[in-house]
Amino acid sequence: MTAPIIRTLPELRNLTGQWQRAGERIGVVPTMGALHDGHLSLVAAAKERCERVIVTIFVNPKQFNNPDDLKNYPRTEEADARKLERFDVDALWVPDGDQMYPEHFSTNVSVTGLTDVMEGAKRPGHFDGVATVVTKLFTQTQATDAFFGEKDYQQFLVVRRMALDLDLPITVHPCPTIRDIDGLALSSRNLLLSDRARTTAPRLFEEMEAIAEGVARGEAFETLRAAAEKRLLAAGYTEVEYLSIHAQDDLAPLDAPTRPARLFAAAWLAGVRLIDNIAI
Ligand code: PAF
Repeated sequence: MTAPIIRTLPELRNLTGQWQRAGERIGVVPTMGALHDGHLSLVAAAKERCERVIVTIFVNPKQFNNPDDLKNYPRTEEADARKLERFDVDALWVPDGDQMYPEHFSTNVSVTGLTDVMEGAKRPGHFDGVATVVTKLFTQTQATDAFFGEKDYQQFLVVRRMALDLDLPITVHPCPTIRDIDGLALSSRNLLLSDRARTTAPRLFEEMEAIAEGVARGEAFETLRAAAEKRLLAAGYTEVEYLSIHAQDDLAPLDAPTRPARLFAAAWLAGVRLIDNIAI
């Protein structure tokens, strides 16, 4: 069934108010559209846990530190609505910029610590934009549960921290990364890859797996990292921004997985920035 597309806050509140009064759990899946099977797996997880599910689509200007990235971000609202039909979601929340950031909007939500590394260090202001819009999406939808992909693992930790610190009555659930058959983590940005770049893209995940296997055999991470970076550049990647191990809970940088940890990567291929992470 086609979900109603809601574009104003009073309409949204009218719906969610009824659901709240009926004691129903409301799940929210925040997205910027260009939906793929990764997003749809979040919707499926939300449907399992909640009586009501809202998918939000808003390309949030505050989280883009590069104007070209914002301009080029894929926008596919009609196709997105069609992809959601089989899930029978209860609402699509598609606010316009004025609903989200009306004139005189002056509030910023900023999470410290977790944002000092990786995406926070490489993309100044990015996580303030994410934390600000997600705080608004949580309060706008009055959701009891939210679903985030582990593909953006740092984002999941930042959002969970923000919700705990601000006493928002919501549980933030992580959901596993969904990969294409060749291992490439699904991402809306994959749509921007040329056919040629798309065939090279899975090398990132392959090299990450090779590092994880090497570390498991007791080899030194730095040696494995340097060799993987060299091979990625030879394959056609133009820059590896980071390929690093961080603790799974607080993202402290580690030389080796001496406590539960993940291997994180960000790399450029044909003008597209890809990120990924795996347990190590
Ligand atoms: O992961 C995303 O698509 C975005 O960062 C989010 C969570 C929808 C906030 O704009």
